[in-house]
Formats: sequence, structure tokens, C-alpha cells
Amino acid sequence: METITPPTSPAVPASCAGIPAAAACLRAGGLAVFPTETVYGLGAIYNNLPALARIFEIKNRPRFDPLIVHIADLAQMAGLAAAIPPAALALAEKFWPGPLTLVLPKRDCVPDLATAGMPSVALRMPRHPLALELIESAGAPLAAPSANRFGGISPTTAAAARAELGAAVEIYLDGGPCVVGLESTVLSLLEPAPVLLRPGGITLEAIARVAGGVRLPAGDAERRRLSPGGLPRHYAPATPLRLWQPPDPPPDAGRAALLTPLPVPGTEAFAQAEILAPDGDLAAAAADLFAALRRLDAAGWPCLYAVLAPEEGLGRAINDRLRRAAAPGRSAPADARG
Ligand code: TXA
Ligand code: MG
Repeated sequence: METITPPTSPAVPASCAGIPAAAACLRAGGLAVFPTETVYGLGAIYNNLPALARIFEIKNRPRFDPLIVHIADLAQMAGLAAAIPPAALALAEKFWPGPLTLVLPKRDCVPDLATAGMPSVALRMPRHPLALELIESAGAPLAAPSANRFGGISPTTAAAARAELGAAVEIYLDGGPCVVGLESTVLSLLEPAPVLLRPGGITLEAIARVAGGVRLPAGDAERRRLSPGGLPRHYAPATPLRLWQPPDPPPDAGRAALLTPLPVPGTEAFAQAEILAPDGDLAAAAADLFAALRRLDAAGWPCLYAVLAPEEGLGRAINDRLRRAAAPGRSAPADARG
């Protein structure tokens, strides 16, 4: 296992000597953990079947949950998507590189293993310079899920990715903390009206300004059909997490920790409180959300409480992650968590 640290400050990730080694590893059929502006990814060349199979195995990810393919330019988009509607181009022009994933009909060169047998492929051009350089140096698009075990909290630092995956992955490329901190927005463009499959780093409001009306999946059946990976419980810490609505504190507040995106009344009743954005900046709250969940999970509290953000803008993505982290279900044991 090799750790690659950029020569400059992690806050300003730059090209580094590690890229050639990571690219060579990928070209040889290996895996590399790499930074993006959203969360760290676990990458393989998109059509290397043994490497893709290893991604599913290491993450303990069900084979029905398709991977996002990361690209560095629009020529790669044209090489992977069988059709590119005008809305896709307009969105790509506006938001790429950036935290938006577009689901389009796939070309035959995209293997079924990457798309979980779906006739579509999810494409994203990440904004992190190391991610773009890695794709360019590898010479091919990279299929990459978040670098956590299935169902667990997505890593927003190289150290968190290493804590999740350890020696199972041969290369970790360190690009500093992820500035967005939440995964990309996933938008299906398979039908004339775009369908929001996962709220994320680009808000619904911003997408609607470019692509017009965006709708949500009509019900559970359509959600499952369009987004097989969208399970109700995900992003979950091992410590039980409950949603709390201020101001009346729960009876066990004195023995529990609280996570809240914005300041709320009643915080002082909790044994510990993390207010992610004391000044109301939801982008800052999103950037620190997963790291805060990890910190609180590691602190040994018997129970965690979380408050939702206003249901608009980035608040939608923050609330989606918090609701799923709090959804009923057994937390996986620490050694198989994801
Ligand atoms: O920000 C991100 O998107 C990060 C970084 C690494 O790029 N990646 C990420 O990947 O979050 P992952 O695998 O954790 O989540 C990908 C989501 C899943 O919910 C999956 O079901 C959905 O995208 N997805 C992938 N391909 C799809 C497809 N063809 N149709 C519908 N949903 C798809
Ligand atoms: Mg994930």
C-alpha cells in the first residue's frame, strides 16, 4: 500500500508525483482511492471487469447498485453515452466540472457490471484537479463509487477513506478535504423531463433554471426502477441516530450528542452539540456533515440526535443524508460496515 501526499498544502491540491503511480496502477488493472470535490472515490478503469468486480467486493456493495463513470472531457461523454439530449449538454456546460451526475443511455462499450445491467450510464466530470489529472493520465474514464463500505458514511478526507478500506486498496491519492462534502446530484435524462434521483452538491433550483421542470420519482416502484441503489438506510453511523425536532429536548439529551446544520433552540440540553454552520452557511454545513458524523460516531455516545435543515437548496441533500442515516435498520458491524 502506498500513500501519496501532494507537495503543497492540502487546501490547495496540486498536481503531484503521485499521479503517475496511481495512473499506472489503474492501467495495470488496480484500484486507486482518489479525491473529488464531493467525496473520495474508489476508482477503476471503467471497462476493466476484474477491477470492477473488486470494487463491489471491497465495498461489500450489491451488484444491483450501478457505478458512476467519471470523465475528464466531453469527448469521453460522447464515447460512453448513446444519446446526448440538448438538456444534458446545457447542464454539462453549466455545471461540469462539478457535483452533477447525468444518467444517459449507454453505449455497448460500457460493461453491464458497471451499470448493474441497466441500459443507462451515470456520468460525471469531477471538479477536483487531481481527479481530472488522474483520469487524463489513466487514459480512460474511471468508474468510482464513494470510497466507503456499502451503506456507511462517505469519506471526505484521504484518512477517512483509509480508515474505511485500509490495505484492501493499493493506492490512496490525498487531495485534502473535499470542499463540497456531499455526493453529486444524480439526475436521470432518459425521459424528456429530468428526474432527480439523488439530491446533492448542485441544487434542484439551480438545475431547474437550466433544464426547466425537474420531477421526483413518482413512487417507490419508479424510484427502484430508475435508481436501484437508492436504499432507505445509508450513510449510517454505527451509533444509533435519531432525528430531533427542536425545541423540547428528548429525555436522554444529557447522555447524547446533537448534530445540527444550523443553530437551534434547545441545544444546551445535550451533552455535546455540533453546530455545523453557526453563521447559517449551508455549504459549510454540507462540507462538514460526513466528517462530523464520523467524529460523533467515534466519540462513544450511546445515541446521536440530528436536526434537519430547511428543505431547500443544499438543505435537501443534507436532509436526504440525515434521514437515511436515521432510517430504521441494523448498523453493520464495524468490520463490514459500509
Ligand atoms: O459525488 C459522487 O457522486 C461520488 C464521487 C466519488 O463521484 N460518487 C458516488 O458514487 O457517490 P456512489 O456509487 O456512492 O453513488 C452513485 C449513485 C448510486 O445511488 C447509484 O445507484 C446511482 O448513482 N447510479 C449509478 N448509475 C446509475 C444509473 N445508470 N441509473 C441510475 N442511478 C445510477
Ligand atoms: Mg456511496
